[in-house]
Amino acid sequence: MVKEEQVRDLLNQSLVRDVLISAEDNETLTRVGPGTPMGALMRRYWHPVLLSWELPEPDGPPIRVRLLGEDLVAFRDTSGRVGLLTEWCPHRRTSLWLGRNEENGLRCVFHGWKYDVTGQCVDMPNVLPEYDFKHRMHIRAYATQEQGGVIWAYLGPKEQQPPPPNFEWARQPESHRHVSKGLQECNWLQGLEGGIDSIHTSFLHRRFAGTRAGLGGLRAQATAAKLEVRMTPYGFTYASLRPLGGEKGNYVRTYHWVMPHHQIRAIQEYTDDGSQPKFKMAGHVWVPVDDENVMVWNWYYSLTDPLDEVDRDESFWGNGPKFVDFNNGFRGHANRSNGWQIDREVQKHETFSGIEGVNNQDRAVQEAMGPIVDRSHEHLAHTDMAVLAARLLLLDAVRTVDDGGRPPGADTSYYYLRAIERILPGDQQWLDALKPEMFPAGAPI
Ligand SMILES: [Fe+2]
Repeated sequence: MVKEEQVRDLLNQSLVRDVLISAEDNETLTRVGPGTPMGALMRRYWHPVLLSWELPEPDGPPIRVRLLGEDLVAFRDTSGRVGLLTEWCPHRRTSLWLGRNEENGLRCVFHGWKYDVTGQCVDMPNVLPEYDFKHRMHIRAYATQEQGGVIWAYLGPKEQQPPPPNFEWARQPESHRHVSKGLQECNWLQGLEGGIDSIHTSFLHRRFAGTRAGLGGLRAQATAAKLEVRMTPYGFTYASLRPLGGEKGNYVRTYHWVMPHHQIRAIQEYTDDGSQPKFKMAGHVWVPVDDENVMVWNWYYSLTDPLDEVDRDESFWGNGPKFVDFNNGFRGHANRSNGWQIDREVQKHETFSGIEGVNNQDRAVQEAMGPIVDRSHEHLAHTDMAVLAARLLLLDAVRTVDDGGRPPGADTSYYYLRAIERILPGDQQWLDALKPEMFPAGAPI
């Protein structure tokens, strides 16, 4: 088991020895296809795969899904059940995406073979009864669940299927939650690491006073932070502590990382005028499409007021229809081909990055690294503690699965978690102070 001290020691060592992740470890961490070690770990968890509105009605058009390097097709059958099948008809290997979704099954348009949501072939109309072997034809079908406006899938061994996915955001009524997604054209771990790297928000997302959308306030004022990571049964919780100077205490922002790819963060944001908007939390899930693409899920919820149109528009975040092309695989309108639409004048006078929209800025820096960054060339600093901890825990979990064990987080330990941000007196321990709010059903640590 990875220890907090181990992470700290490694980072201290990095002052004299820079390589913390070897090229070999980097391969292990980033390759997620069938048969790879990380692919085996990833296949022990539930993944969000589609927004429910993408399959709005029974017998509607099927959709292609690429997940963990596998080509799949999803459909909602006559009874409302969601099927997730391998894309290729086993007969002559054409795509079932072309198929007819009818009478509780997806029928291949080439010769009419039909499969139900369990992957069982239920009709083989091109052969005479004496030649029919439909009972022997079964294609790969994965378990699905629908919760929180999202269709979730489990791609691993049936006997090791974890309890249903059940995040607090997904339990909220639709009026109080919003979920969206966007494709990022780089490896999944680059996305995840960008998200759990707390301190980048003070730079990449900064706006200069009195200008356009971006993060001002406390995170722009106090840009150097101390990071503290505490291991938990589901991954870790951590806090960034930004000293505000003098007697003002620390601006403390807490997070949870739920293995392997889920982040919960506080956005009870302190605004420039000191007011506090409605209580909200947010997060991302970085679901690997394949080794060089990741689908980044975004979710937000309020425990008090219903969300409004501005919340759902997501323009501030650089998500939603203005920034993401729903008709082109959820790819960003700003991408490598157009330099992420960077505006050098805006960069000079208004924002740190010159790129519009918070998550658009994230996509830019993470995609600009290239499809799979070589971590053996990095130089990590103290504020990379959470990033390093995640890598070590992932490598550890890969070994656990390889040895036949159950990895952390493939259980119910993450069902009741909240992330909180607060200004605390300089001498107050953040976990002691915030534990009751961060773990409303009792603290596992
Ligand atoms: Fe960011």
